[in-house]
Amino acid sequence: MGIAYSCSPFNAIQDEKEVKLIMDILRGKRLSEFSPDAAIYTSSIDSDKFLVSSVIKINKAHMIMLIKRGIVDLEEGYNCIQALEDIPKDITMDPKLEDVHMNIEAQVIEKVGDVIGGQLNLAKSRNDQVATAIRMVLRDFILDIASSLNHLREVILKRCEENLTTLMPGYTHLQHAQPITLAHHLLAHHDAIMRDSERLMESYKRVNLSPMGACALATTGFKIDRNMVADLLGFDGLVENSIDAVSTRDFAVEIISDLAILMTNLSRFSEELVLWSTQEFSIVEMPEEYSSTSSIMPQKKNPVVAELIRAKASKVYGNLMASLSILKSLPYSYNLDLQDLTPNIWDSCQITLTSINVLKNMLEKVKFNEKRLMELVKNGMLMATELVDTLVREQKISFRISHRIVGMLVKKALNEGKSLEQAVKEDLINIIKENTGKSISIPEEVLRKTLDPIENVKIRSVKGGPSPDEVSRMVRERQKALEKDYEWIIKKRESLNFADEKFSKEILSIKEVIKTRK
Ligand code: ARG
Repeated sequence: MGIAYSCSPFNAIQDEKEVKLIMDILRGKRLSEFSPDAAIYTSSIDSDKFLVSSVIKINKAHMIMLIKRGIVDLEEGYNCIQALEDIPKDITMDPKLEDVHMNIEAQVIEKVGDVIGGQLNLAKSRNDQVATAIRMVLRDFILDIASSLNHLREVILKRCEENLTTLMPGYTHLQHAQPITLAHHLLAHHDAIMRDSERLMESYKRVNLSPMGACALATTGFKIDRNMVADLLGFDGLVENSIDAVSTRDFAVEIISDLAILMTNLSRFSEELVLWSTQEFSIVEMPEEYSSTSSIMPQKKNPVVAELIRAKASKVYGNLMASLSILKSLPYSYNLDLQDLTPNIWDSCQITLTSINVLKNMLEKVKFNEKRLMELVKNGMLMATELVDTLVREQKISFRISHRIVGMLVKKALNEGKSLEQAVKEDLINIIKENTGKSISIPEEVLRKTLDPIENVKIRSVKGGPSPDEVSRMVRERQKALEKDYEWIIKKRESLNFADEKFSKEILSIKEVIKTRK
């Protein structure tokens, strides 16, 4: 199947002026016109939409620097800056001009002519510019994602506070293991998500570095000031080696990896919500606003949001794999393969951001069925481990022998349809006698506590354990950490705003000088 040219922009009769412009700024006298199919195939304008305002800003910052270093005449530079300011954020881009960089340069040249506008790309290249723009958009995404994550953490911590004494079965292998509390379980999810926040904050510093001034790969003979441009654009430093600056996308792969791990955590949480909302578990009542029904089965309430979070995690893995594969055999420095990596970044960021937000909103409204949880705790054999520990404590029987004794007791109870409580009363002493020769008696109060799930949880007050006091301590600590993480975002945004102010002041002062000259 070929490309449908009939609906492509190339079918239109190109006006001569347009062809000349393209030939002048893009292909020079070096190459003849690009074949339309090749132009469409290689254009990046679709995903360049994300980059427009950053590319405009980079052009302006670079021009400020060229003016201040006396490389470009002040008035000419100012005309370029003004032409850049006139470009609308929703600029219509022409795929024949390949990408956002050439479209913006073309618009400036169209406005101020190529004697002045032709200076715009002096001492820079699309290679350093695109790497810089990606980093600027990505750092904003990181701050937005980190902020959403903080809100999600806040909701989980609130749900923990509400459920410090809500008992539930803890699972291993999806089999009843030991009693825990819902707060303890939810906090486990919180802590994984907290590490996702940490990872993003940690990665931010490798993203927020400026490649500008690397030019195509080998910098320039003009005495440019790379640090000045980095400063104006809010970067914390440079990607110093100019070849590294244009070649690497490891910062992007690092973020996609962070997001892949993050989505895995959201997916595991979502999977539990799906499982817990089944008739079989009935632990969770999903909010109607976040469920759908069936077009044929009117009784259905499907946990579709949670299902899709699970599915969308896979898409981020796909993006990660595609990005790694694009990079792995790429010779240094720039190759157009890198262009195809970029959409994977935006797709991953958007998927993750929307997934976090929808999970947070849904989680605020999820109802946990405490009665059902208690029923499950009572009906199971969850206190068997504590019974083993009681035998060790009270009767000085070694752990392994006690484990064997309680194993036999559980087997007998299950065979005879007894509860653990009943089996303890009727069979424990005999089993111990048969296996150890010991005649024992355990005080009733000790046995009562052993078989009481609340006591089981309370006694597990070891650091990180399920006792309400311990979980409450952990929640308070996490709340403090969360405050710090909110502050981190505020600080980063402040520093970007500060750079913006500096940037505006520089432009203002250029305008002032121009005014006084006139
Ligand atoms: N559109 C390109 C990208 O997204 C910009 C750099 C193109 N460089 C080049 N030499 N063709 O990566």
